[in-house]
Amino acid sequence: MAPLRNKVLILFAHPSPRRSQVVVPMARVAEWVPGVTLVDLYADYPNLDIDVDAEQARLREHGTLIFLHPMYWYSTPAMLKEWQDLVLEHGFAYGEGGGALAGKTFFSACTTGAGGDAFGPGGYNNFTVRQLLVPLEQMAALCGMRYLPPFVLHGSRTARARGVVEAHLEVWEDLLEALVHDRLDLELAQQADRLDPARRRLIAEG
Ligand SMILES: Cc1cc2nc3c(=O)[nH]c(=O)nc-3n(C[C@H](O)[C@H](O)[C@H](O)COP(=O)(O)O)c2cc1C
Repeated sequence: MAPLRNKVLILFAHPSPRRSQVVVPMARVAEWVPGVTLVDLYADYPNLDIDVDAEQARLREHGTLIFLHPMYWYSTPAMLKEWQDLVLEHGFAYGEGGGALAGKTFFSACTTGAGGDAFGPGGYNNFTVRQLLVPLEQMAALCGMRYLPPFVLHGSRTARARGVVEAHLEVWEDLLEALVHDRLDLELAQQADRLDPARRRLIAEG
């Protein structure tokens, strides 16, 4: 087994996990990947009383940060906004004395209820998921992080019936292992509109 090169921190946020078809299975896969730390924010902070010092310490220990969530109103569930508001402090994440996150990698892994054709020009959501999540892209930029485009599964409510969940989970696991072992081509990945390691051959042979 190759040595772990990069620890990956996943902040998982799902307000209704018992109804989840895809995001919760993604969390279950992730918690078994060596080198990945999975944090269930709604379980850990049911009253939104986020432990800022603990969260900042955890961030320092990891090279990659992933938000894992369903898309809610073209963004993340509220918990991830609360986490940003409290944890990404001036003097820690940005500004004078900041820079704790500089050089780390960040992206969102999310599912959307709408199908893929709803996104982008001509679709009823008008914008691509990458465009809709641009506040996260700028969050990463301000903090000096490398931003990768979102890893997305569209049409989550019908995904199981369409038989696409297992393949998505396999690609997700491959992606996490590639990150941990530093085998993902970050330069190439960051140029795309979405993170699609299967199609774009972003992962080097192990
Ligand atoms: C409050 C709320 C807001 C939502 N907003 C969106 C949205 O903006 N775009 C979209 O495609 N789906 C939206 N959905 C659908 C969810 O993204 C979908 O239910 C989710 O991907 C299912 O997650 P799962 O993979 O855990 O089953 C929304 C659902 C809820 C409950």
